[in-house]
Amino acid sequence: MTMILLDAVTKRFSPALAPAVDELSLVMGEGTTTALIGPSGCGKTTTMRMINRLIEPTSGRIVIAGEDVTRSDPVTLRRRIGYVIQQVGLFPHLTIAENVATVPQLLGWPETRIRARVDELLALVGLDPATVRARYPRQLSGGQRQRVGVARALAADPPVMLMDEPFGAIDPIARGRLQDEFKEILRRVRKTVVIVTHDLDEAVKMGDFVAIMKDGRLVQHDTPDAILARPAGDFVRSFVGQDRALRRLGLRRVDDVMTPPTGSRGPSVPRGTNLRDALSVVLAESAPVLIVVAADGTPVGEINRDAFFEGRSAEEPGGSGMRG
Ligand SMILES: Nc1ncnc2c1ncn2[C@@H]1O[C@H](COP(=O)(O)OP(=O)(O)OP(=O)(O)O)[C@@H](O)[C@H]1O
Ligand SMILES: [Mg+2]
Repeated sequence: MTMILLDAVTKRFSPALAPAVDELSLVMGEGTTTALIGPSGCGKTTTMRMINRLIEPTSGRIVIAGEDVTRSDPVTLRRRIGYVIQQVGLFPHLTIAENVATVPQLLGWPETRIRARVDELLALVGLDPATVRARYPRQLSGGQRQRVGVARALAADPPVMLMDEPFGAIDPIARGRLQDEFKEILRRVRKTVVIVTHDLDEAVKMGDFVAIMKDGRLVQHDTPDAILARPAGDFVRSFVGQDRALRRLGLRRVDDVMTPPTGSRGPSVPRGTNLRDALSVVLAESAPVLIVVAADGTPVGEINRDAFFEGRSAEEPGGSGMRG
């Protein structure tokens, strides 16, 4: 079922300027994650803010769960949409617990339920509730504040989450872990998510679909694999970079390509290793065969070096890949 429909949505901040968002049409299915990516100023934040009506479109239609939201009450609408804003935007005069509790309070949840929910969410995003609950935002690091921002957006369990660079202020290692944690959360709770990022690796990792924008327009909307395999035109090709073939390997796991073990010798990698990392081992060791092992070290499969180079002929340069 379609959860979010953008139908030729345009935003002009001034008649003298080019539109910030230009006839953008996009369909997002219920329970899917769409990564919105593109250069600075291409209209990503404006698009998010039109979905929850912090900005009114100049023209076009936005439909959420079958309801034309340009006609619904914006305050009620925002309670159904979790929003992680680009600059975190915690309330500085409220404690961390009060920040996370904002929407549940507005919805009139009983105090005990709110307390339990706040602690559950802080733990979920990797913060110790007892330590941070009573602190103020200025007493946390930037990365910790971003985690609180994510917890706050999840608080009332909204069906739709808009996340504007939610992990932007977090260092690469913690960021990878938070991406994994958030993916795991999404696997358990079905949500429709739009996540804005500057980082192609994050888009490819987090998105079931990736939407690439340029100058307010949608230039490609497809699965991460299709975008890496068939970038639509020179802009996307240069945007996804020379290493798109490696990035594409990063989407697949050794488990998908291994063949049964035959007792060959060679360097080993654990199950679940992605093919990009596996290839790195093959190259580093100049190995003809890679062994895939279970957690206890037992071989469970083998990958011949040639397997990494198969399927490349399936690439079709310059396909359109557009999904509206
Ligand atoms: N309130 C506003 N008034 C006038 N112009 C605006 C306003 N908000 C955004 N713009 C312009 O609209 C365009 C799109 O801005 P937007 O914030 O959506 O970009 P973005 O893709 O989120 O960029 P970034 O990656 O830097 O966050 C930019 O040219 C910006 O200057
Ligand atoms: Mg932005």
